Amino acid sequence: MGDTSLRSAFPRDFLWACSSSSYQGEGSLGDGGRGPSIWDEFCARPGAIADSSSGEFGSDSWRRWREDVALLAGLGVNAYRLSVAWPRIQAEGRGPGLQAGLDSYRRLCEALLEAGIEPWITLYHWDLPLALGLEGGWLSRDTAKRFADYTDIVSRSLGDLVGAWVTLNEPWCSAFLGYGTGEHAPGHRNEAEAYAATHHLLLGHGLAMDVLRANVPGRKAGIVINPAKPRAASPSPEDEAASLRASVERTGLWLDPIHGRGYPEAQLAQKAVVLPVLDGDLEVIAAPVDFVGVNYYNEDIVKAVDPSPAQPGGYAYVEGREKRTEMGWSIVPAGLTRILGFIHGTWKPAALYVTENGGAFPDTRIEDGRVLDLDRISYMESHIEACARALEAGLPLAGYFAWSLLDNFEWSWGYSRRFGLVAVDRASGARTPKASYAWYRDFLAGRLP
Ligand code: FCB
Repeated sequence: MGDTSLRSAFPRDFLWACSSSSYQGEGSLGDGGRGPSIWDEFCARPGAIADSSSGEFGSDSWRRWREDVALLAGLGVNAYRLSVAWPRIQAEGRGPGLQAGLDSYRRLCEALLEAGIEPWITLYHWDLPLALGLEGGWLSRDTAKRFADYTDIVSRSLGDLVGAWVTLNEPWCSAFLGYGTGEHAPGHRNEAEAYAATHHLLLGHGLAMDVLRANVPGRKAGIVINPAKPRAASPSPEDEAASLRASVERTGLWLDPIHGRGYPEAQLAQKAVVLPVLDGDLEVIAAPVDFVGVNYYNEDIVKAVDPSPAQPGGYAYVEGREKRTEMGWSIVPAGLTRILGFIHGTWKPAALYVTENGGAFPDTRIEDGRVLDLDRISYMESHIEACARALEAGLPLAGYFAWSLLDNFEWSWGYSRRFGLVAVDRASGARTPKASYAWYRDFLAGRLP
């Protein structure tokens, strides 16, 4: 498909956007009374981050926000998804809002609107105030209540400027990488804790939805997850059933309770975990959402195996033949169409957005001082084609958000992995658009052959 016809496969009101997050991009961690987050503490642990770095630099966006808005305007996007850093609003996770933090986000949102770009705010993209982390973090039910209070402060302050609200980003990562495998802050390794955190994150989401409905009626509000339904290694009924079982932890565990179906009991029974659910919690969690945001990067493959202590789910991952990004993630554009179809077919949310999609590549080819990132261009183009397929299939897909505008701090990988459409020099902070930036800009303008 030529790019002009690809562009015209999307309706006029489709959102074309970029995504970012506070801890990965802002830098200036000591500014404006910001308190420490669990990620500041985690990064200081020897061995936690591949290059021993932290978000102290990020993309230097806290200082260079005007340049970022100009870059977004130059791209021609009509929305920008950013997250608010909770520790910039409540240094210790409770009490009145810090005016310096609120004013900074207000200024940024106003500048975006002036440039014709709709701000999308994620309230929680993993930077929990450390003070709450030390009181148990998401293992504590109280954190869900604190999250609702923080949501109240932010939505009262920015409610008139924000087009859409996202409560949580990828809560599976917060719960399972934060408390299960220890790859993310706070670095615990305990599966039962991962499930306890799951429930408190979902409770926080539901309580925050109630606050948003009261404070910003009529504005869109929903959640962003990183669902997965690994492809079956063969069309056999056994492998297809394994594919469905393997989808639960990343998908049904979140979307079932959000859509009023309670938790997937079969999965929980098999794990022998008991969630800390109190009377009324499931009703809170089932508050209707306007959309489900899907972050999609890759699709794995599974086959059925006999359940064993090592493989209690009765499935095992199989190596595929696709090319991989520098993260080691398989490049499977058709998997994006499939996961959107799976979610639509199973839960029927009113709207779907691809809230993150992009690729990390070594970016070693430089011409005329610019990164010629042809891998990233073909990654984006093939995934945008996958979005066109989803629309053709009648799915209510309403936007595509590229991850990410800028190179930034990639969590436990530090600065060793780059997803940006724009390169950032860590010594000077200078921003240099890559070829992928020019490609996205020309694609959006309908200028590609
Ligand atoms: C997602 C995260 C985002 C970024 C990308 C590469 O899981 O939401 O912050 O790190 O992966």
